[in-house]
Amino acid sequence: MPRLKVLFVASECVPFAKTGGLADVVGALPRALADHGHDVRVVLPRYRAARRHPADKLDAMVGVPLGGGTAWSAVWTAHMGTSSARAYLLEHDRLFDRDGIYDDAHGEFGDNLSRFTFLSRGAIELCRMLDFRPDVIHVHDWQASLVPLYLDTIEAGSPIADAATVLTLHNMGYQGGFDPAGLSQTGLGWDDYARDLERGGRINLLRAGIRRSTVVSTVSPRYASEIQTPEGGEGLDAEVRARGGDVIGILNGIDDAAWDPETDRHLPAHFSANDPSRKEECKAALQRELGLPERPRVPLLGVVSRFAHQKGIDIIAGTLERLLVRDVQLVVLGAGESWAEEVFRRLSRTSDCVRAHIGMNEPLAHRIEAGSDLFLMPSRYEPCGLNQLYSQRYGTLPIVRAVGGLDDTVENGATGFKFTELSSDGLLAAIDWALGTYRNAPAQFRAMQIRAMRKPMGWGHASRQYEALYRLAMGKRRAQRRR
Ligand code: ADP
Ligand code: GLC
Repeated sequence: MPRLKVLFVASECVPFAKTGGLADVVGALPRALADHGHDVRVVLPRYRAARRHPADKLDAMVGVPLGGGTAWSAVWTAHMGTSSARAYLLEHDRLFDRDGIYDDAHGEFGDNLSRFTFLSRGAIELCRMLDFRPDVIHVHDWQASLVPLYLDTIEAGSPIADAATVLTLHNMGYQGGFDPAGLSQTGLGWDDYARDLERGGRINLLRAGIRRSTVVSTVSPRYASEIQTPEGGEGLDAEVRARGGDVIGILNGIDDAAWDPETDRHLPAHFSANDPSRKEECKAALQRELGLPERPRVPLLGVVSRFAHQKGIDIIAGTLERLLVRDVQLVVLGAGESWAEEVFRRLSRTSDCVRAHIGMNEPLAHRIEAGSDLFLMPSRYEPCGLNQLYSQRYGTLPIVRAVGGLDDTVENGATGFKFTELSSDGLLAAIDWALGTYRNAPAQFRAMQIRAMRKPMGWGHASRQYEALYRLAMGKRRAQRRR
């Protein structure tokens, strides 16, 4: 089969910029596709934090139409790992030379509509500048959702509009909502607004992406059906339903080079499903690192999470009083809602069985996955979730709420523990089940750990599914363009 030319447009990509799992996916899937022989390029903004990664500056600049003027952008390029996939970072200091990706200590940036309009239009202008004619433009979340709309409007007559577009929905809870007064930033008209962008009297970028992309995907089959219901659709379920069979769920994989307990450079000792013995050393080292009593037999529970409503941090907080009398240790890594930061900071100071690290810390995330026995994810909703997969890979059994990708990736009582009720009681009952297995049925617990570790979860399978989706989208786009 001829190789495909694919352009990814996204706001995050490991190792350049990360707030969550989107970055992990955009950092890994292009490499898996490039390893199948495709020509894959990724475009994202050059945030301040991305500058510390080596990259080469191209000679030419890109002129990006923005708000009636032109935003000139230098372009930096870098290899993605050892693959042939390439990242292109668009530099514009006024928009991106600041701390934070979407917000900072003072809250959301007021100019996010301009910043991500710049990304979407910049991606199209970059293709022109490089003379790159993608077969597929794969856009991610609201930050890149204007691309499909531009191809059908401002760009309709240009060759780039032949590209099929695939929108992957990583999280319907974030839709890119803005005051319509900002419409002039986008170069689009009020008719475009009324038809594709308006939701509840505001600009809604995700709506345009859902309506205009050739096909829509999301990151687990269960979430693909949840977002078609009023409970899961966050106000856009009708738009998703209207796409009918064009909506498909493809489970995320994990980057199994970065997340492998046999080789992970962040770990003090290595282990695998065939030889799990040194996982104990990771646990002891984690206890030492965080100043917890070094007790090999006490169950150690881990949390690595954005502190956001989605993640059910309040559900965890509601169990604490009852949980901590059960002779367990709890390690928490996360940042976000300030009340949660405060709860865990305080407990960390006052309890000898809880330690919290507030902030982003990639190496510590790896050590928590490796050193814990159990991992908590009581999410309200979860499009896919990567941490439960990392946990499984590291023999740390996840305790998850049976929603979205968590439901699709955890086999109850076999590769983790599931509960349904959205409450601290529900979570606590599942924790008790897990603790009972840990203490009273150690052979069964070990068998579950090995089974979880052996589960195939690299990008091999998912990248083949995306390839098939790209070809489907290309066929649909050709038919659309002939009409
Ligand atoms: P989401 O994208 O909704 O936050 P995922 O489970 O898909 O959830 O991905 C979260 C990613 O972010 C994982 O790679 C996880 O390890 C990482 N992560 C979350 N919080 C932190 C943190 N405080 N420090 C380091 N990594 C974190
Ligand atoms: C989102 C979702 C998460 C998913 C990630 C990568 O941030 O919240 O469930 O794993 O995107 O697709």
